[in-house]
Amino acid sequence: MAEAAEPNLAAAKGHPSDLGAADGHHEVLVSAEQLRERVAALGAEINRDYAGRQPLLVGVLKGAVLFLADLMRELEVPCEIDFIVCSSYGSSTDSSGVLRVLKDVDVSIEGRDVLVVDDIIDSGLTLQYLMKSLRARKPRTLEACVLLTKPERRRVDLPIRYVGFEIPNRFAIGYGLDHGQRYRNLPYIALLAE
Ligand code: IMP
Ligand code: MG
Repeated sequence: MAEAAEPNLAAAKGHPSDLGAADGHHEVLVSAEQLRERVAALGAEINRDYAGRQPLLVGVLKGAVLFLADLMRELEVPCEIDFIVCSSYGSSTDSSGVLRVLKDVDVSIEGRDVLVVDDIIDSGLTLQYLMKSLRARKPRTLEACVLLTKPERRRVDLPIRYVGFEIPNRFAIGYGLDHGQRYRNLPYIALLAE
């Protein structure tokens, strides 16, 4: 009979997808440890702010999947999750702000405490559009929690309640963020090699 795997700390430090970093191809921007600490801190803030309430976390697929999964494990307030999928008509590295919602939330958000969870804000156009569309449905409160932000690239003034890290104007991959659908599985955030 196969035995349950023993956690192997030495092996857990490496990751098959780490090869790029080990090769010096991708520079690590935010380590797994830094992610854990910051996500825990954001979770603690959300627990305080939403005490006595039952927020609906709306994850923006696909990029927010790892962040949402880790963030919700830090929450002690009762919460629900749902997902939204949208596609931008822009190019792969530049969003146009013209969006199509491919999958909407499954439930009515009227009167709910909605917290949109997204991976990264670049121009801000995607989130601005999403927030506008959700706000029209009369949630009780509507806030955003974003893991990464690139302040230099912001084109719209968008108040974001919870922000993980401010990063430079470079293309980030890992921890949900992709380049051509790859690298989402990296357990850290790295800069895409030029
Ligand atoms: P915005 O509408 O310009 O704010 O673009 C936001 C979306 O563009 C994010 O949700 C990501 O899907 C994508 N994006 C922007 N910058 C990056 C990056 O550095 N790495 C991966 N995806 C990015
Ligand atoms: Mg996204």
